[in-house]
Amino acid sequence: MPASVLVAYATRYGSTQEVAEAVAATLRERRWEVDLRPAREVRSLEGYSAVVLGTALYMFRLHKDARRFLTRNREALSKRPVAIFAMGPFNNDEKEWQAVRAQLDKELAMFPWFAPIAHEVFGGKFDPAKLRFPYNLVPYLRRLPASDIRDWNAINAWASSIAEKLESP
Ligand SMILES: Cc1cc2nc3c(=O)[nH]c(=O)nc-3n(C[C@H](O)[C@H](O)[C@H](O)COP(=O)(O)O)c2cc1C
Repeated sequence: MPASVLVAYATRYGSTQEVAEAVAATLRERRWEVDLRPAREVRSLEGYSAVVLGTALYMFRLHKDARRFLTRNREALSKRPVAIFAMGPFNNDEKEWQAVRAQLDKELAMFPWFAPIAHEVFGGKFDPAKLRFPYNLVPYLRRLPASDIRDWNAINAWASSIAEKLESP
């Protein structure tokens, strides 16, 4: 099997895709062949020796494209190393981060067969001006300030740690 990695992402507003692009770039620097694709378009994992799945969290859930990706590819994912990252808190409040990590653990518990080699939460990006129905009707969300707390150093370091795990499992 060629040493090829799939980086799949589930996004609504694009910030998770940008993080997936950064993860893919780091893996490529480490000489991995990488395909970067929306999770909803992936029909088969044949030819990939490992997978990274990136997903936004919405209303305490994994993005539905990520949930469907896990369900659809259960068998293939059980046979390969898989890492997952989820986005993301809006600010650097430690309590919020703990709550989001707990959210991710709870969501992953819905897939008891799923044993990722790594799972991580990254800070997210939020822009109230881009909210779509029905969220544009929620006053609390509309009043929140725009923010982007994606930590590119942390993202690149995590991607490097994944490359290391894949190189010496
Ligand atoms: C309506 C709404 C609900 C959200 N719910 C959660 C959540 O439950 N947990 C979380 O960590 N982040 C939540 N977020 C933050 C998003 O995950 C974050 O903005 C992320 O960067 C969005 O990714 P995307 O641009 O790829 O869609 C929410 C954002 C919005 C707009």
